[in-house]
Amino acid sequence: MSKTILVTGGAGYIGSHTVVALLERGHRVVIADNLANSSRLAVDAAGRLGGGEVAFHQIDLTEDGSLAEVFDSHPVEAAIHFAGLKAVGESVEKPLDYYRTNLISTMNLLREMQAHGVWDLVFSSSATVYGDPDVLPIPESAATGPTNPYGRTKLMIEDICRDVAAADDRWRISLLRYFNPVGAHSSGELGEDPRGIPNNLVPYVMQVAVGRRDKLQVYGDDWDTPDGSGVRDYIHVLDLAEGHLAALDHLEAGCDVFNLGTGTGSSVFEIIDTAERVSGRSVPYDVIGRRSGDIATSLADPSKANHELGWRADRNLEVMLTDAWTWQSSHPMGFGDDD
Ligand code: NAD
Ligand code: UFG
Repeated sequence: MSKTILVTGGAGYIGSHTVVALLERGHRVVIADNLANSSRLAVDAAGRLGGGEVAFHQIDLTEDGSLAEVFDSHPVEAAIHFAGLKAVGESVEKPLDYYRTNLISTMNLLREMQAHGVWDLVFSSSATVYGDPDVLPIPESAATGPTNPYGRTKLMIEDICRDVAAADDRWRISLLRYFNPVGAHSSGELGEDPRGIPNNLVPYVMQVAVGRRDKLQVYGDDWDTPDGSGVRDYIHVLDLAEGHLAALDHLEAGCDVFNLGTGTGSSVFEIIDTAERVSGRSVPYDVIGRRSGDIATSLADPSKANHELGWRADRNLEVMLTDAWTWQSSHPMGFGDDD
């Protein structure tokens, strides 16, 4: 059934790909984003690729009452909440910015939803809530223990959601713990466009491959992993987007949590090899010391989402990096060169 869905942070990397998936499914989309870390051009591209109309409101969710105009002008039936700050290192430097933006935005959204009788919510949480995991692959029941302010905001927001759902049984909330989203829309028209120096491996590798940066720094080859480099559960952003549709379709009273990952790990060296193969470019690197706060391995047990949401991430590493390369090679400067 087609619905009007509010997508906060819908101009961002994961949000814009999810907008495409929502439009393809026939939903109407309303985006609320202040463009702090994104481009208006991503909104246009998502509308074009999804083949539908997107209403866009440039608002800051931390501002009291900013969402009222959105709820007053559209018959919103559910929200997907991506908006927020997400850089781990920056959160250590500027914890108050992270607590303020991530927590206040969410509370403003929840209050506005409540005031308008909208009870269906899907929230972008993160595998970072598990910290250094005590079990691999990681099930939702594993202990949480984030190790940085960003991760703590995610766990606090999860707790807020659990509390509001316990207080009023009309809420239907799904907390999605993403593992490592990578890749791009296969058209090459929409992809990840980080501002400044990328924090994450795949966008950095792509910028080296395209010649925008000289060399990758590999953060350690002495981890307790098969080749000594860090292992992560990379998931194609389009599989992740489809996970949001499945979560919306399966909302139930209360607040539930799901891992969204593939269950397969890849090392930094495997990423470099695959990126070189699919791009036909070389990716020079130096191995340097470990990055503070890193862990050896992060790997999802996605079986709860597989069984309960009927969802599975099928696209493999080759597809993830091929699509990332199609985007990067056709937009070497991201959306910036289209401005
Ligand atoms: P992104 O930065 O591309 O998207 C976030 C969007 O929120 C941006 O468009 C930004 O402009 C907007 N925004 C930020 N503050 C805002 C505010 N105060 N008001 C309105 N809009 C605001 O990030 P992303 O990678 O697409 O991540 C989306 C969500 O998924 C985030 O909540 C992030 O924490 C979470 N997440 C991301 C990853 C990842 O590796 N990318 C992993 C786990 C979880
Ligand atoms: N790495 C490098 N060089 C780089 C960047 C990363 O060697 O320039 C390595 C890291 O040490 C790690 C792997 O590549 O072994 C992946 O690093 P990312 O920064 O891409 O991803 P993380 O798993 O460290 O962090 C990501 C998000 C966080 C989120 C976390 C768990 O950036 O926001 O996944 O979901 F919290």
